[in-house]
Amino acid sequence: MSAENALTPGFATLDGTRRFATRFKELAGAGHFRERQGLAISSVGIGTYLGEPDPATDMAYREAIVAAVWGGVNFIDSAINYRMQRSERSVGAALRSLSTAGFARDGVVVCTKAGFLTPDGDMPGDPNAYFYDEFISKGVFSVDDIAAGCHCIAPRYIEDQIERSRRNLGLSCIDVFYLHNPETQLSEVSRDVLNRRLAAAFEVLESAVAAGKIRAYGVATWNAFRNDPRAQDYLSLEAVCGLARQAGGGEHHFRFVQLPFNIAMPEALIRPNQTVGGKTVSMIQAARDLGISLVASASLLQTHLVGKVSPSIHTVLGLRNDIECALQFVRSAPGISTALVGMKRVDHVKANLRLAGIPPVSQEQFRRIFTGSQ
Ligand SMILES: NC(=O)c1ccc[n+]([C@@H]2O[C@H](COP(=O)([O-])OP(=O)(O)OC[C@H]3O[C@@H](n4cnc5c(N)ncnc54)[C@H](OP(=O)(O)O)[C@@H]3O)[C@@H](O)[C@H]2O)c1
Repeated sequence: MSAENALTPGFATLDGTRRFATRFKELAGAGHFRERQGLAISSVGIGTYLGEPDPATDMAYREAIVAAVWGGVNFIDSAINYRMQRSERSVGAALRSLSTAGFARDGVVVCTKAGFLTPDGDMPGDPNAYFYDEFISKGVFSVDDIAAGCHCIAPRYIEDQIERSRRNLGLSCIDVFYLHNPETQLSEVSRDVLNRRLAAAFEVLESAVAAGKIRAYGVATWNAFRNDPRAQDYLSLEAVCGLARQAGGGEHHFRFVQLPFNIAMPEALIRPNQTVGGKTVSMIQAARDLGISLVASASLLQTHLVGKVSPSIHTVLGLRNDIECALQFVRSAPGISTALVGMKRVDHVKANLRLAGIPPVSQEQFRRIFTGSQ
């Protein structure tokens, strides 16, 4: 069998994800699934960032992802650099086992990212020699394409990373492919240079959509869309969408943005740092205006929120503990499609899935978090 034939065909579809949702009638009844970009997606997604690059963590993620999907999560987030490709491979292993158990490919949305220089499985003895032999000597990128010593979105590198991710995940088509923290480059290159690089990368991503290797693309960010417009690493969503239009025309496939959003980092909702059509708006409003779906990362601020959720938030959300409040805050926020939570422990998956059976709070109730009224 050729390497291409070994990949699972298909991709997430509206019918497939709706079928997934109907397996979980009680959760669906409680508002756990929402339709975004032609997909029915769960209000909680599983992330795969943290953890050691070792076999025990590989196995833990695999089991956690399987448990999450069995429990009603159909949004899986990874990146090629997470645990040096091992998280993508854990996702691939989980998907194979879920497929054997009867979960169809078209019911689960699989997302990954590229942009950081990434070793293969563990840290090479001489990283510079590894990246030279693997990429520079083969003309995939040049030294000048590397920013901040670790980041690259050169066209041939993105093509290379799509192929590696498809193999790691065991999928012929990736549902959402993000450029990972592109604002990292602004510490070293000008905005004009980054815009040219983004436009070239978006052309590659549009070609990958046309070739059936990815379904949609976006950018996953940390500071870019939360910061003040004067910050060096700020990005304008309208400008980034303009680059996508340049690459793919009016029907471009730039559809998702990932950014941190949690009780301690609510900027996407409350900071008017974007401009759309000359009007100053929040990131959540800008995304709505431009037809982009927002995915929240670090929903629990990597558990640093524990012990810091105010009594007034507890009063409004009325849940058992800080973790539940933190997650309920994110999955209830207007304009947030799904709340990603990193989970490599099955007991964390089970604990977080308790919330999937509880409706997100109403918009009116959500507003009370900010107004302080009862
Ligand atoms: N720039 C970017 O693109 C970017 C940046 C950050 C994150 N992300 C994505 O967003 C995902 C979520 O962010 P994150 O993983 O950084 O942080 P997070 O989701 O805020 O927190 C993950 C941590 O919370 C723990 N946890 C989960 N459920 C818990 C529970 N019920 N009780 C106690 N602890 C619990 C996890 O433990 P266990 O793992 O041991 O279960 C893990 O240590 C990432 O995995 C990644 O996919 C993207």
